[in-house]
Amino acid sequence: MAPRKPEKDIPRTVRFRIFRGSRGAGLYSEYEVENEEGMVVLDAVHQIQARSEPDLAVRWNCKAGKCGSCSAEVNGVPKLMCMTRIDTLDPTRPVSVAPIKAFPHVKDLVADVAWNYEVNKRIPPFTPAPMTKAEAARGEFRMAQQDVDRLQEFRKCIECFLCQDVCHVLRDAQKKHEFFGPRFFIRLAGLDMHPKDDLDRVPMTKHAAGVELCNITKCCTEVCPEHIKITDNALIPLKERVVDRKYDPLVWLGSKIFKRSGA
Ligand code: SF4
Ligand code: SF4
Ligand code: FES
Repeated sequence: MAPRKPEKDIPRTVRFRIFRGSRGAGLYSEYEVENEEGMVVLDAVHQIQARSEPDLAVRWNCKAGKCGSCSAEVNGVPKLMCMTRIDTLDPTRPVSVAPIKAFPHVKDLVADVAWNYEVNKRIPPFTPAPMTKAEAARGEFRMAQQDVDRLQEFRKCIECFLCQDVCHVLRDAQKKHEFFGPRFFIRLAGLDMHPKDDLDRVPMTKHAAGVELCNITKCCTEVCPEHIKITDNALIPLKERVVDRKYDPLVWLGSKIFKRSGA
């Protein structure tokens, strides 16, 4: 049998400060967690729950960075707890874990993100144009690979809402009544850039979704665990479409006519 590799020199325990309380009122409580190589923040929260705080509220599901449930602020930075290894954090101070702040607090590490699902319902779904003559003769619609690749990036979104949490328009200015937030600009961009989508998405992007309130700080892109280039690939093109429409409304009309008459 091959000799076992020596274990990495890791601290045996790590101190955590976890926000405890409900409806926004509460305090940080300190805990000492037994550390193991490869542990993530969610493991530490589970250890605390199992050993001393069975009523510690935390939302999670997959523990694989795919369900988007375990969003929190770790040392003040929006992160997925299940993808944040303890050995990547500053070992000289306790690790603080708090709920995301842009949405109403429920209990301990859980925030109520229901507003996002209400926004989602306001966006009309994919609305395909009727088949062109050429498509009908072939019996199928074909997409260029570059269109597939562009839309695929947006479909990687796991709805963790970390981008919504960090965006100052929602978090600090609390403009939820006039701004959909970066997650939904991803959705709007994915629909608007689909060559077969037939709805005019520009009025919603400009008015209800409020794209002009975004000032391209790129904070959303920096925290996205799926590495979606939210600012460069969704927000800036959407802003350009809104501006193009303002100065030349025939551009959109022309693009639709071109799409319909093309293969
Ligand atoms: S780039 Fe725009 S959407 Fe993203 S965080 Fe900044 S203001 Fe918000
Ligand atoms: S765009 Fe990124 S940060 Fe925003 S909800 Fe989707 S996966 Fe999360
Ligand atoms: S538990 Fe699913 S993303 Fe963290």
